[in-house]
Amino acid sequence: MNLLVSKAETFLKQCYSENEWDNLEQRLTEVKDEITRTGTYVHTALELEHGAKIAWRNSNRCIGRFFWKKLSVRDQRHLTTEKEICDEMLNHIKFAYNDGKIRPSVTVFRQADEVRNNSIKIWNAQLVRYAGYHAEGNKIIGDPDSLEFTAECIKLGWKSAKTDFDILPLVIQIADHPPVLVPIPDSFINEVNIEHPTMEWFKELGLKWYAVPIISNMVLEIGGIVYSAVPFNGWYMETEIASRNFGDEQRYNVLPTVAARMGLDTSKNSTLWKDRALLELNLAVLHSYQKSKVAMVDHHTATDQFINFEESENECGREINADWSWIVPPMSGSATKTFFREWKNEVVAPNFYREFAAWRKPTAEEMEKQAACPFHIHKA
Ligand code: ARG
Repeated sequence: MNLLVSKAETFLKQCYSENEWDNLEQRLTEVKDEITRTGTYVHTALELEHGAKIAWRNSNRCIGRFFWKKLSVRDQRHLTTEKEICDEMLNHIKFAYNDGKIRPSVTVFRQADEVRNNSIKIWNAQLVRYAGYHAEGNKIIGDPDSLEFTAECIKLGWKSAKTDFDILPLVIQIADHPPVLVPIPDSFINEVNIEHPTMEWFKELGLKWYAVPIISNMVLEIGGIVYSAVPFNGWYMETEIASRNFGDEQRYNVLPTVAARMGLDTSKNSTLWKDRALLELNLAVLHSYQKSKVAMVDHHTATDQFINFEESENECGREINADWSWIVPPMSGSATKTFFREWKNEVVAPNFYREFAAWRKPTAEEMEKQAACPFHIHKA
């Protein structure tokens, strides 16, 4: 049997049974006919909605899955032009932010059409993200994670102030048409300035972060259909920003500065200066988001919710898959329940998958890694 037919069938059976919908047989016949006639098929709005929710539920590396049923699925498959799609990405930013009461959401643009080479690609890793630039003396301005994409934007004619926190423009490409670059108007951007509840000097570090992480470089596969442009978001857990985006040496690398301002002895590891700086940094990020009334979860609450997710899945007769190294928070791991658990780490569809950078051919090394990585999309 055709691979697409069998994937469609597996998904439709699961979808209809979880929702207790009638007429599965009729729908299966319809979809098989459609595939025979056209080589593909189109999900109904309800199938898409439930498929996207299952994809979140199946995301091995996501700690926030307790809320999978609450995902807002924004069906925008009817949009065709770059302009319409960019406008709708801006709408996603507003909808998701929701005055700080962040709504987990996914916007689904039309399905990939590789037969006619007519797929939509969003080049951005996240809809809102800071640029990064090489500067003199091996220095980096901004977010080192964005170096390559920022260089592409500059090639496409983007001009910026070259600060540590320049918001990158949206870049979208349909088929092999030239990519279209659209700066995000300020009115769509919400950021939180980082201050500390008791350390007055903290705000002088000039740190800030954006309110909502909206991943835009992954693809969604449901029942054999690939959606190549599907920006999705939840709310932040504080360690993502504090421990990783600010703390990682290869990112903003602020621990030495924070430790110095705290007056810590950084001459030896055993003063635990990194840990003390990390703790205050995490506290500052949580405090600042709370003060700005932007939704954020701390890592103790998030891990408790994850355990609840596991239990409620087990009650439904499902076993979860999870990637331990992503679920256990990057700080105080053993102070959370997740540390003591083990899970299978199989990748099951529907799911969100990683994809190669959109602006160039993958390197041999990337190809090799991808071949071995279950979190990458593998096209038939
Ligand atoms: N860790 C990524 C970041 O710091 C965001 C990943 C998605 N996170 C989320 N809470 N939904 O930007």
